[in-house]
Amino acid sequence: MSADQLRETQAILRAKYDNLCAAGLKLDLTRGKPAADQLDLSEPMLSMPGEGHHVSADGVDCRNYGGINGLRGIREIFGELLGTGTDRILAENNASLQIMHDLTVFALLTGTPDSERPWSKETGPLKFLCPVPGYDRHFSITEQYGIEMINVPLNPDGPDVDACAALVASDPAIKGMWVVPTYSNPTGTTVSEDVARALVAMPTAAPDFRIYWDNAYAVHTLIDEAPAPLPILDLADEAGNPNRVYVFGSTSKITFAGAGVSFLGSSKANLDWYSQHLSIAKIGPDKLNQLRHEMFLVDADGVRAHMARHRALIAPKFALVLDILEERLSEAKIASWTAPEGGYFISLDVIDGAAARTVQLAKDAGIALTAAGSTFPYKNDPDDRNIRLAPTFPPIDELATAMDGVATCALLAATEKLLERD
Ligand SMILES: Cc1ncc(COP(=O)(O)O)c(C=O)c1O
Repeated sequence: MSADQLRETQAILRAKYDNLCAAGLKLDLTRGKPAADQLDLSEPMLSMPGEGHHVSADGVDCRNYGGINGLRGIREIFGELLGTGTDRILAENNASLQIMHDLTVFALLTGTPDSERPWSKETGPLKFLCPVPGYDRHFSITEQYGIEMINVPLNPDGPDVDACAALVASDPAIKGMWVVPTYSNPTGTTVSEDVARALVAMPTAAPDFRIYWDNAYAVHTLIDEAPAPLPILDLADEAGNPNRVYVFGSTSKITFAGAGVSFLGSSKANLDWYSQHLSIAKIGPDKLNQLRHEMFLVDADGVRAHMARHRALIAPKFALVLDILEERLSEAKIASWTAPEGGYFISLDVIDGAAARTVQLAKDAGIALTAAGSTFPYKNDPDDRNIRLAPTFPPIDELATAMDGVATCALLAATEKLLERD
């Protein structure tokens, strides 16, 4: 478009935007939360285990203290779904994020089984690799403890292995990296087996380098053929780095987001180290919650069947968002977006320099979007381009209004940016 055409288009969009503002909307596309109808799917669990049903299949009285590693039955189910097997997984309370946090703190205070000294006693700042765009709460954990974050590109088959390998080979301060291997937050990327093999095998200058393999969306598929979990612990064993990987998962977006069960899979040495620390902090997890999950979900196929019911509720929301993006933005060519096969997000890239403005325009029109930059360490998107859309939580009619509004904001911000460049 010429500058004049752009100005004309901008005037039309401005009028549309003013109407949007006048509508007095109050819509929220920020967090990847299950909607109430999804939570309803697990409502029967609220009456479980039920009076008189407090003993687990392996004979544990779940009302009492103890059993720091969690119930065997729930570990069997998620050991299969997360590809760790039953013996290399622990079941914990309601937040896998807390396990990620605690593992980091324990390493800082005492060092891992492979550390020469506590991470906090190393000279100079520690570093983590962060495939971007990624999950803001991961980045918050490393930021909280002063661990420097280094952006690495996230390719369609996972983190850019060459970039990662080059960095970790020579810098012993790089102690770990974040990875979301299935339907990543926010791009929906799934790590290929080749990339996984390369990540567990790459030589690292730090002897205690750790991959935080957060398989939060292992079963959250929007397609018929969900990818099988990579046997990442076996791959790490084969590569001669058995302690390199921590596998995480939880039922947060399977049953109740606030009252689920979380999991840590890893080598025996790492699990023993973690549960020794944990046993100082508590006498055991909430086994009654684990028991009711076991009763409700039954087995891995039970989880898959339950996830198919989630899919039936959320797939139309994803389809709607993609339709609106296509209809409103494809012709102008000012944005690109992901069409995820699972997970909880759609990642929208607007033209460089226009993400923060798009989010601000939406906010002023009553549509809350995740803050621009959130998908990058330090909330700093170097290109000011990425916006994370979370379609699951709002009712579908509100979602349509919100997305149409977001499209108007993205277009208006693009005209502003382009005219500024002119
Ligand atoms: C990649 C990822 N990991 C972990 C979580 C949170 O997991 P939990 O509820 O088990 O702490 C989320 C939630 O959005 C997520 O997107």
